Amino acid sequence: MAPERIALGAKLFADQRLSGSGRRSCASCHRRERAFTDGRRRAEGATGKPLRRNTPALWNLAWSKQQFWDGRAPSLEVQARGPIEAPEEMGGDWATIVRRLEADAGMVMAFRASFPEEPAISQATITKALASYVRSLVSPPTRFDDWIAGNTGALSAAELRGFQLFTGKGGCVLCHNGWRFTDDHFHDIGLRSTDPGRGAVAGGTPGLRAFKTPSLREAVRTAPYMHDGSLPTLAAVVAHYAGRFVARPALAPTMNKNLRLSPHERADLVAFLRTLSSEAPDRGADRPH
Ligand code: HEC
Ligand code: HEC
Repeated sequence: MAPERIALGAKLFADQRLSGSGRRSCASCHRRERAFTDGRRRAEGATGKPLRRNTPALWNLAWSKQQFWDGRAPSLEVQARGPIEAPEEMGGDWATIVRRLEADAGMVMAFRASFPEEPAISQATITKALASYVRSLVSPPTRFDDWIAGNTGALSAAELRGFQLFTGKGGCVLCHNGWRFTDDHFHDIGLRSTDPGRGAVAGGTPGLRAFKTPSLREAVRTAPYMHDGSLPTLAAVVAHYAGRFVARPALAPTMNKNLRLSPHERADLVAFLRTLSSEAPDRGADRPH
């Protein structure tokens, strides 16, 4: 993780020369101030038409083995090619991108400093630098971490009750586990979307509409939720698990199909989810956008 390479990747991440039109970059959709999401149900395509999926946050992906909601990219280097080449995303072509960057003396120097062994500006070095940057994105510590570290006063009574629901009756921890709050597996949790998800990619089970368990770090700032952006708030997510899901045979066996939660319990669970974010605990952020 050479610092020069991460810095170069950060520049490229916001560089519109990587797009065909010269008007889009990774940061058009992955906005830093929104935990690298865009606040839209589904990402906006080049012609203004929504793409098929919601823009995910980009935290802690260095520990994620498979990228994208369906896990179709085996590495962050392979992943980075996707949006650059997709006509409806950035619509870039490598010859043009390389030509534009080579005309920039600062860029030529930055590539030399980052890749002493292979200093040429190329698809390989561009995607390596982007991947290094994405790999460097680690979610900030939150009040929950403070509590885990032994500060027993860090969480309120409601937040602690929420944690108990998360790890107990709610069964959330069966999939959202470890410090990133994900098992890195793919599940069908009964959303209404007809997206085939992992069922349509190599390594998936054909017909099984499974999606990657997202990390819950900073989730307060990444609404709307799910691969299709169909749930506008954390309260809507909790309502989904508490009986609003489509009960079909493919549903993940670890999901609690009989989960009933009182209004108080729902509020406690949302209060707990908010402790996984570094944002100040104001209620406003969970309102629909
Ligand atoms: C048009 C909006 C858009 C642009 C531009 C865009 N992305 Fe994304 N990004 C998305 C969407 C939508 C997904 C989810 C797609 C899917 O899962 O099929 C995604 C997924 C990802 C993922 C996978 C995250 C995970 O949890 O698996 C990474 C990493 C990523 N993008 C990085 C980038 C980089 C690097 C660039 C620039 C080269 C970029 N994105 C450009 C919208 C965008
Ligand atoms: C069977 C595994 C499983 C269980 C159990 C589970 N989840 Fe999830 N969770 C997922 C998957 C998979 C997704 C993404 C689904 C999709 O988009 O198709 C998800 C998505 C989410 C999201 C949206 C995150 C985002 O960035 O879009 C939140 C919030 C969430 N779950 C919270 C919970 C809570 C709270 C519980 C307990 C009541 C719970 N989950 C139980 C697997 C699970």
